[in-house]
Amino acid sequence: MRRAVCPGSFDPVTNGHIDIIARASTLFDEVVVAVGVNASKKRLFTPEERIDMLGQACAPYPNVSIDSFDGLLTDFCQQRDVHAIVKGLRAVSDFDYELQMAQMNSSLADVETVFVPTSPEYSFLASSLVKEVATFGGDVSGLVPAHVLVALTERLGSTPG
Ligand code: PNS
Repeated sequence: MRRAVCPGSFDPVTNGHIDIIARASTLFDEVVVAVGVNASKKRLFTPEERIDMLGQACAPYPNVSIDSFDGLLTDFCQQRDVHAIVKGLRAVSDFDYELQMAQMNSSLADVETVFVPTSPEYSFLASSLVKEVATFGGDVSGLVPAHVLVALTERLGSTPG
């Protein structure tokens, strides 16, 4: 059984995340999307809300499940017998930090990081930018699933574009 984890904050999940998760689901038998819960970081959505939004977004992919973790990602991987971490790379600027994390993670546990290039149409996409644009009433309807757009609109009080 080849099992992989797709970790992230997913605050909120974007179409770019879903693209990487969907492609990971064709490469591995089972994919666990793991929501990082870091109580010291301020998020727009609670872990439960992020998990729920991911659950809806990943419903079309039967071998994808959603979970959450706090602490080290490598501890989660060991607990779940996962030996592969899938990360999307949007641009060269992502690579430095992602390489550092990949090497640190492989020094901590028996786990490989697999980098998947982000599809070009999502290379500019980040949850932080989606939130900023939505905060000021910009149109993010093409960047997130419809149910996430509704949640963003409710939370930020802007009109969907
Ligand atoms: O979506 P993000 O914010 O880029 O996700 C980052 C995340 C959650 C994948 C990363 O911060 C992480 O793995 N955190 C868990 C803590 C950990 O294992 N730190 C050591 C990394 S080398």
